[in-house]
Amino acid sequence: MRILFWGCLVALLALSLARPASRDSDALSVLMEPDGTGVWRELIAKYNRDHPGLSVRMVEGPPATNLREDLYAASFLSGTAGYDIVYCDVNWVPKFAAAGWLLDLTGRISDEDLRDYLPASLQAGSYRGRLYRVPAFTDAGVLYYRKDLVSTPPETFAELVSLSMQYRTPERWGFLWQGKQYEGLVTVYLEVLWGHGGEWIDAAQQRVLLDRPEAVRALEFLKSTVGTISPPGVTNYVEEDTRILFQSGHAVFLRNWPYVWTLMRRSRAEIIDRIGIAPMVHAEGQWSAATLGGWGFAVSKFCADPEAAWRFIDFMTRPEQLQAVQRRQGRIPARRNLVPPEMKSILDSARMRPPIPAYAQASDILQRWLSSAITGSVTPDLALREAARETRLLLGN
Ligand code: GLC
Repeated sequence: MRILFWGCLVALLALSLARPASRDSDALSVLMEPDGTGVWRELIAKYNRDHPGLSVRMVEGPPATNLREDLYAASFLSGTAGYDIVYCDVNWVPKFAAAGWLLDLTGRISDEDLRDYLPASLQAGSYRGRLYRVPAFTDAGVLYYRKDLVSTPPETFAELVSLSMQYRTPERWGFLWQGKQYEGLVTVYLEVLWGHGGEWIDAAQQRVLLDRPEAVRALEFLKSTVGTISPPGVTNYVEEDTRILFQSGHAVFLRNWPYVWTLMRRSRAEIIDRIGIAPMVHAEGQWSAATLGGWGFAVSKFCADPEAAWRFIDFMTRPEQLQAVQRRQGRIPARRNLVPPEMKSILDSARMRPPIPAYAQASDILQRWLSSAITGSVTPDLALREAARETRLLLGN
């Protein structure tokens, strides 16, 4: 019932947002994230000023990536050509490409650019050997810590807990992470899962590995932090909630993306000299893992003018534009020369979410059960058994 309700709401929103955007005007439309800093508006205005002809119009969507993905999918399904250009998360590519909703951009990028883009970002924009998404920004989960309190960052979950307990005060929590029921929760859980030596879906074999002891231990860890080293509200936090709390000194550790680093340095907050970055922690005898994230541009197969869309993408992915976004929003450009040196090793070792066409549904299942477990409605063990069962049904095994 709830799914049906949200499904209808999303479809209605998609239609209402989509229609005026491209059909009633001489503009190409692109659905973007909320443009809090105004940088996208300025860059698009600059593009429109310097490129006479078909202009580009931005529609601001909701902050959660999975909700914007739903809006894009609903508009493609309705066949109304809602959006011409897709501002695309790494994990949307297999689904959109397999459905035939994106134009093949292989061969469009110059050799020089191909050498400059990070290989992982190019790979994440590809499906079955064809490129559908031009990389713009890259992401990987990072552990921020208060180096004025903790001289050496923790390497294991046990050390993270014990240091959190040690430096917790009534005003300062131990560990902040993103626990709301959305895609961000999946990216955090994956880092904890991989750090326990577990896996979600083996994409090559189409095998679901969620009901294994490592996966349960990983979820038990996340649940155990709620109300102890992490605030009870963590089960409702997204990236920005945790950044703001951490930046104002209310936690010892924070799991977030690299944008936090850039924004904190730019804000010249007093706290910046007291912050260090480290790879995410792992279980004894295992390895750290970061979830690969990132954004890029793709062209809808319903696009009114693919050549004009390409001109826009080519403009937006030039270093100058990427650096403007980097300065204002903190995102890390997916070009080798623009990656801050201190982020290189973490980004290099980041792992992809399973590149399967059914990713959105699999993530939706996992989000629901993770959220039920961390809010205490079901045990981690039951949650993962149910999530595994539903995911196997989804994948047909
Ligand atoms: C960041 C990542 C993106 C991920 C999202 C989850 O925006 O770049 O890949 O899906 O966070 O909240």
